[in-house]
Amino acid sequence: MDYEIKRNCDNVDWQAVSDLLKTVGMAHYPPDIHQKAFEASYSVVFILDSGKLVGMGRAISDGAYQAAFYDFAVSPDYQGAGLGRIILSTILADVPNCHVILYAAIGKEGYYETQGFRKMKTGMARFLNAEAMAKKGFTE
Ligand SMILES: CC(C)(COP(=O)(O)OP(=O)(O)OC[C@H]1O[C@@H](n2cnc3c(N)ncnc32)[C@H](O)[C@@H]1OP(=O)(O)O)[C@@H](O)C(=O)NCCC(=O)NCCS
Repeated sequence: MDYEIKRNCDNVDWQAVSDLLKTVGMAHYPPDIHQKAFEASYSVVFILDSGKLVGMGRAISDGAYQAAFYDFAVSPDYQGAGLGRIILSTILADVPNCHVILYAAIGKEGYYETQGFRKMKTGMARFLNAEAMAKKGFTE
């Protein structure tokens, strides 16, 4: 298939961003909140199939030595076809000298291990919804 790989936030359908995150079971917010997050990010990737959003990811970074990945998702119908690999490698290429951290969705740790990530032993998080995140299994 012929996908468009988009590297900026111009004319993005922010409702589609929210919908995609909801579809894959990730945290999602009203469209304007996603727009604020992506526009403030260091690196963004959107993959479109005939104009339809089918994958995305973003990194926040200082561009010098630290980066964190968020909102990494591929539409269920398109998973397993290598789009995740494209998104990850595209973003990684934007932060070549950076340490990269992320927190995996429950059950996706193995995926990131295949992509060169290792589990952190000292990761600490101060989530806004601390109790809910503990219940979901993200924290102790
Ligand atoms: C995680 C996700 C983005 C991966 O995207 P994808 O397009 O399906 O991934 P790819 O097709 O590029 O897969 C790349 C490789 O990882 C492997 N893989 C996929 N899921 C895996 C898992 N849970 N454990 C181990 N390996 C996995 C694939 O087999 C593939 O290996 P190969 O290239 O050697 O064949 C996608 O599955 C997704 O959106 N999931 C739901 C949302 C989510 O969990 N996002 C991550 C939040 S942290």
